[in-house]
Amino acid sequence: MQVQIGSTRPSNLATDALLFAVHGKGGRRSAAWQALNQAIGGGLDGLLKLCGWSGRAGELVAFPAPAGLKARLVLVGGLGEKGGDTVARIRDLATKAAGQMSQAHLTRLGVYLEPALDPRLELDRPSVQAIGEGLEHGAYRFDAHRSRGDQDPPPDLEQVFLYFEGRKDRPLLAAALDRGAVIGRAQNIARDLVNQPGNVINPSGLEAYARKLAEERGISITVLDEAACRERGMEAFLAVGRGAADRSRLVHMTWSPPNPRRRVALVGKAVTFDSGGLCLKPAASQATMKMDMGGSAAVIGAIVAAAELGLDTEVHAIFAACENMTGADAYRTGDILRAANGKTIEVLNTDAEGRLTLADALHYAGGLEPDMIIDLATLTGACVVALGPHVAGIMGTGRGLIRDLRSAGDRAGEPMWELPMPEEYKELLKSKVADLSNVGGRWGGAITAGLFLAEFAPKGIPWAHIDIAGPCFYDKPIGGRAYGATGFPVRALTEWLTFS
Ligand code: BES
Ligand code: MN
Ligand code: ZN
Repeated sequence: MQVQIGSTRPSNLATDALLFAVHGKGGRRSAAWQALNQAIGGGLDGLLKLCGWSGRAGELVAFPAPAGLKARLVLVGGLGEKGGDTVARIRDLATKAAGQMSQAHLTRLGVYLEPALDPRLELDRPSVQAIGEGLEHGAYRFDAHRSRGDQDPPPDLEQVFLYFEGRKDRPLLAAALDRGAVIGRAQNIARDLVNQPGNVINPSGLEAYARKLAEERGISITVLDEAACRERGMEAFLAVGRGAADRSRLVHMTWSPPNPRRRVALVGKAVTFDSGGLCLKPAASQATMKMDMGGSAAVIGAIVAAAELGLDTEVHAIFAACENMTGADAYRTGDILRAANGKTIEVLNTDAEGRLTLADALHYAGGLEPDMIIDLATLTGACVVALGPHVAGIMGTGRGLIRDLRSAGDRAGEPMWELPMPEEYKELLKSKVADLSNVGGRWGGAITAGLFLAEFAPKGIPWAHIDIAGPCFYDKPIGGRAYGATGFPVRALTEWLTFS
């Protein structure tokens, strides 16, 4: 995607589509509105009325470019009233615009943002980065498995022109747009991994995909097979994959820049399909459980972004990949397992498998002695009940870490809400025969899962656990966002890695 920043008027720009984003109802004082109205020779209000456009945030209409423009399609998007989360709205409009363009097979876009046309409001890094993120997000399709899909695939966006009057900030804005596009593409990698079904992205498929990404980007990768994991005492992790035909493995990717300012371990849940094991899930609940490796997809997306942006933090992406199945050697309800840190666990539900895999992966991460550890997991249905499909749960021991992650998430449009970890609830995890039970009862399920992980998070290293069971995957379009994998929270992690 070629990026240009300039002051060419909309009427003079030869391109495929023009996107105007305006505040409010696009009243006459709006500079973007005026520029467009002038370019088409007046009558814009009537046109928009015909299209049913009312100027709500996120609303986007398209109409063929009237005479007077050198473009073919005009898109008018609403930024809502001033004072809202303009960055999120810009990202949203860019997403929708890219969707329209790819449907219409258009490849060149001119963007006229109202703030850019208003001398009192400067376009800044976050809003321009959001354009890049949104354009990549909106152009994404998952049709790898449609037999009619490749006949006429939509072309990639080739050229983006961003209107900007000033001279001195142009390189900064161009870099921000590029940066957003890099992040958007890294997020799409995570979406692809999650959207791929369990028969494609099984543990060996996930390893192969990670290897390919790593090789192409100067990321190093090591893989521990089952025997190596057994040697390290990872019985909790290995138990989960025992009922599957494809073997479990622990994957460790490293981005190591020269003279890193700090070292961070990102641990992702990587259950490539969660049938529930012997405590089998009903069919309807299994239907989306290819998404249960969404934590690993997020850490892969984040390390790819770190490498492509050349970030100065050493990043370790770690995931214990397995499939929770019901084969002859499957682990049983009542089994007692010894985790790598020596603690014993009574399995009272084979469907609470994620925490078993993470227990050993967290212990492994501790062995690297990083400055902090973040784990990401589609861990509990209870977290979805608590926070719904847009918001992730976050908890842990790293106070500053959680604060910084939450604020990065707010800036990136990937919100996280902190859940408490009350001491008293620890007794819910008591077992009659082992150190811990793997389930904590009906209430506070997201919290007891976090408290379970806390028993395995290495002491003395700030740790945050992010439960992404809700926002990882939408089983239907919601709030104008597409069906399927979201890539949550690759943007937030990259924002945090860069600016915290
Ligand atoms: N992978 C699921 C959690 C999940 C549910 C993710 C819905 C995304 C959407 C996890 O392994 C699981 O089955 N958790 C159980 C835990 C329970 C048995 C304690 C759950 O949430 O019901
Ligand atoms: Mn489960
Ligand atoms: Zn699971």
